[in-house]
Order: sequence, then C-alpha cells, then structure tokens
Amino acid sequence: MKAVAVIPGQPDSIHLAELPKPSVHEIPNGRGVLVQVLRVGVDGTDKEINAAEYGMAPPGDGFLVIGHECLGRVLEVGPAVSEFAPGDYVVPTVRRPGGSFYDQIGQYDMTSEDTYFERGINLRHGYLTERFVDDPEYLVKIPKGLKHVAVLLEPTSIIEKGIIQAYEAQRRFKIWRPRKAAVLGAGTVGLLAALSLRMKGFDVTSFGKQGGPSRNLDLLAELGVRYVPTNELSIREAAKRFGPFDLMFEATGYSPVVFEAMECLGKNGVLVLASVTGGDREHPIPADKINLDFVLGNKLVVGTVNANREYFEAGVYDFARAELEFSGWLSKLLTHPVEGLDNYRDMMRLLTEERSAIKVYVNVAYDQQGPTPRLGHEAEPRCTIPNG
Ligand code: BGC
Ligand code: ZN
Repeated sequence: MKAVAVIPGQPDSIHLAELPKPSVHEIPNGRGVLVQVLRVGVDGTDKEINAAEYGMAPPGDGFLVIGHECLGRVLEVGPAVSEFAPGDYVVPTVRRPGGSFYDQIGQYDMTSEDTYFERGINLRHGYLTERFVDDPEYLVKIPKGLKHVAVLLEPTSIIEKGIIQAYEAQRRFKIWRPRKAAVLGAGTVGLLAALSLRMKGFDVTSFGKQGGPSRNLDLLAELGVRYVPTNELSIREAAKRFGPFDLMFEATGYSPVVFEAMECLGKNGVLVLASVTGGDREHPIPADKINLDFVLGNKLVVGTVNANREYFEAGVYDFARAELEFSGWLSKLLTHPVEGLDNYRDMMRLLTEERSAIKVYVNVAYDQQGPTPRLGHEAEPRCTIPNG
C-alpha cells in the first residue's frame, strides 16, 4: 500500500513509499483494530518534519510516514475487541506510551521521559497511508454525524487539554468563576480555541495580526468573538478595555507574545501555553514587573502539549454541541482538500504557500458505507480513490 513519507534529517525528502498492508494480528492478545484511512489533516508539525527540523524514523526504518490528524473507518477487529465493530468511525490519538509512571496510567501526554513516541511525528509511523492497525486504547469513536469534521479532532484535542488543564490548576481557588478569555492567534488552533471557549460560555477576545477582511475573521464573528488586530490595539490596551482576562490561551507560535500575555493576565488568572517553538530566539522582558504582578495577583502559567483520549472525547462533545449551535461552522475550516495520497506534493505546497488555508487535508479514500463525508463548502469531490 502507498504511504507519504520523509527521510528524517534530509530536507524536502517527502515521497511516496510502499508499505506492506498491516494485519489485525500485529497487535497482541487479539486486541488489534484494522483501520482504513479516510482523511488526514496536515499542520505546521508536518511542515517542520519535511524541513528536517523535527521527527525521527521508527527504529530499523530509514523513513517516517507522516500524518497525525486522521479520520478512519474500522475494517476488522481482533477476537478480543469489544469496543469497536467494522464500519465504526474512529480518530486515533498521536502519542504512544514510554516507560514513565504517567505513560503506564494512560496519561502518556504527561510523560516525564525525554523521548516522545508520536505516530507520524517521532519514532512511529503516521497515518498518511491506506491502512493502519492499533490497540482500542488509542482509538476514539466518532459519532456518524460528526465524521465530516472529525479530521479536526486531533488539533482540537490539544486545545481541550489546555483548557481542562487550566481548570484543573485553578482548583487551587476552591471556587473559580472565570468570565473572560483571550485567545492569542487566529490561525487554525486559535479558531478552534475560540470555539471551545465559547462553548464553555466565555466572553472571548481573539488577537491576531490580520487587519483586513478574511475568512478567519468572519468565522470568529460568527461565534460572537471580539477580534483585535494587534497592530491597531496592543494586548495590553485591549486587556484594559475588554478584560480582565481570567484565562489566556497562547497559540501564535511566536514566543515573545508569551511575556506580553504574562503582563496582561488578570488577577487570579491562568495563562495556557501551547505553541511548540523550536527556535532559539531571545527577547528582553520587564522581569521585575511581570514577577511582581504574578506574585501580587496569584497568577499562573501552565504549559501543555499533546492529548490523551480523555481530551479527544472532550473534543467530540464540543463538536457535537458546536454542530447544534453553530451548524456548519466547523466544515468551513476545511478549506483546502487534496485528492489522494499521490498528490502529496500539492499537499506540501498548500501547507507551505497557501496563506488563506485554514486546514489542508487529504481525502485518502471515500467512504464506501453510507454517504460520503461532507467536504468544506468550497470543495467538491473530484475523484474517488478506490480502496486498496
Ligand atoms: C501534535 C501533538 C504533538 C506535538 C509535538 C503537534 O503538532 O498535534 O500531538 O505532541 O506536535 O510533537
Ligand atoms: Zn498537529
């Protein structure tokens, strides 16, 4: 079967690889679930992996199959699997456990080890292929009515974790009644964070660089989210006008913003950091002021990465609510479809060059059972990829 792979360490090595078809028997104790890949989303991590800035091949392989945002359909289950049946829609999680205590209790997203095993990212093959096999522990069931947007679940799981972590941490107040949230960044993650916070009843202010009209800003307006272009109003000024911000979610990918956000967080507030910043940028900060305000204001900053199944499930819940309250909104994020694995070059080009893209994704196969997943409102299916 086909797979889209890179050679780690070699920039722009993206290519089509040929892999043997996986079998349900590869997972021990009859616990295998064989999944047909329907759709895979790509993001900045895939871009970095193809630029050879990140990612390692599984031991013994000279290549890494990329893709970590996946929707699939169950083809076959092992004799000891009761959680899934053929035909079920599933989204797989990304990280697989290492050896730490947290890894052993299903909290592999909280591993205390330095090595991360992440499908499609590091040391484990990903989902930009035709089929994969996994244990039910790492598969999250998708209600049929959400399959058309489920490729957005993995990025959403990261946000759900961030927000749930914020609430967990704020239990230090015994009672915490946040009202106002700020989302820094109006890209894919920023949009999904704004949605999630709206679903939880927050008054949300989003910050971004874009001034003029754009699809992202229309989408925020549809959610009833206030948008502030930072070239017109600084985060500091906006915090005075629209804050105090009880919860701030940083998703710009630009680390200096973190320290500006620290200066603008409300008393008793929590700042969630979710940008994976691979560089070595340095930046001067008003250290005394930030420290003083954090101490006097009982403030908290918390870093968060990856997600275990609990957060994927929280995302399913928010998607269901979002489809009821803002019907069709999630589909509008699916802006740039690519048809089939063969068009991986188009996929990379859109990912690196198309500035208007909210989500680039590959239709790996069309659903054979039931209706074809609905596409983003711009897109029409151009061809049907036969199942291998
Ligand atoms: C993925 C996470 C992963 C992180 C770091 C992100 O793009 O969504 O699951 O933990 O990259 O590798
Ligand atoms: Zn990702």
